[in-house]
Amino acid sequence: MKKLSARRRHPLAAVVVLLLALAATGGLYAAFAPAGKAQADETAQSLAIEEGKKLYAVGCASCHGTGGQGTTDGPSLVGVGSAAVDFQVGTGRMPAQQPGAQVPKKKVIYTQAQIDQLAAYVASLGAGPITPTESQTNPEGADIGRGGELFRTNCAQCHNFTGEGGALTHGKYAPSLEGVSPKHIYEAMQTGPQNMPSFPDSTMPEKEKKDIIAYVKAVNGEETPSPGGFGLGNLGPVSEGLFAWIFGLGALIAVAVWVAAHTAKAKKS
Ligand code: HEC
Ligand code: HEC
Repeated sequence: MKKLSARRRHPLAAVVVLLLALAATGGLYAAFAPAGKAQADETAQSLAIEEGKKLYAVGCASCHGTGGQGTTDGPSLVGVGSAAVDFQVGTGRMPAQQPGAQVPKKKVIYTQAQIDQLAAYVASLGAGPITPTESQTNPEGADIGRGGELFRTNCAQCHNFTGEGGALTHGKYAPSLEGVSPKHIYEAMQTGPQNMPSFPDSTMPEKEKKDIIAYVKAVNGEETPSPGGFGLGNLGPVSEGLFAWIFGLGALIAVAVWVAAHTAKAKKS
């Protein structure tokens, strides 16, 4: 009895209890929390696949086969990956309407959420290129000069030097790249639609793809990443000159008036 209370009063007892409690909470968290999150992700994923499968059966199976194995009207989708679906459906190429040399772009008929579900289903048929994230495709801060070099060596022979596109053989064509979103440019490089070669991340890393996207955007005059300072509408020397006249001269006049007023006051007193 005496021994126990003595031990209880040991100065380290409180610290030991605290450490044990912390270890227990930490252990419990480690055991349950990430597992819970992983499980939630997994359920969301299998739900998306289920929904995608239904959309696929209605809109795509007639040409690509009930299990994506392909038919005489459309190629197999096993292993094309979510990026190929996001690109093909997101640019309105799929679902194709009639056979021809090349499936044209049309109005997109699915919502992005439905496209994600279709992509999840097709990705579940076999591993392939994965839809890139926003941070992977955002060209902000990328090297436009390097992008231009890469574009001229890898893309210009079909898409022309500034990406306005051009005709290929057998009624096929490389489309203009104007107005194509960074994500779809990235996915085109990942998946190589039609006659276009693919440029997987293993041979053309993310950084180079971003440089190319930045170049394509710059030559089309879209979303040019500003080099810093005020953009002034990016209208070039005219707006810059106007800015200098109005604000620069205005400031000089203001200073002159202020100086004059003060020297006048100083003289009076
Ligand atoms: C009328 C037939 C038809 C329908 C319907 C159709 N496709 Fe296609 N699909 C094709 C053909 C043909 C190609 C090959 C196109 C080409 O090479 O230009 C293709 C190509 C694709 C590709 C590219 C495959 C690759 O190797 O990169 C994907 C992905 C795709 N389709 C997904 C879909 C999805 C998803 C749907 C349903 C929303 C769909 N398709 C509906 C005929 C069809
Ligand atoms: C051998 C010729 C060829 C080369 C080289 C090539 N492309 Fe393509 N590209 C094509 C063709 C053909 C299509 C149209 C595919 C389709 O409609 O299914 C295309 C489509 C695209 C699209 C989709 C445009 C849209 O309107 O949706 C993008 C983006 C693109 N290419 C970017 C590139 C980039 C970037 C490179 C260089 C890294 C490149 N391409 C190299 C032939 C080429």
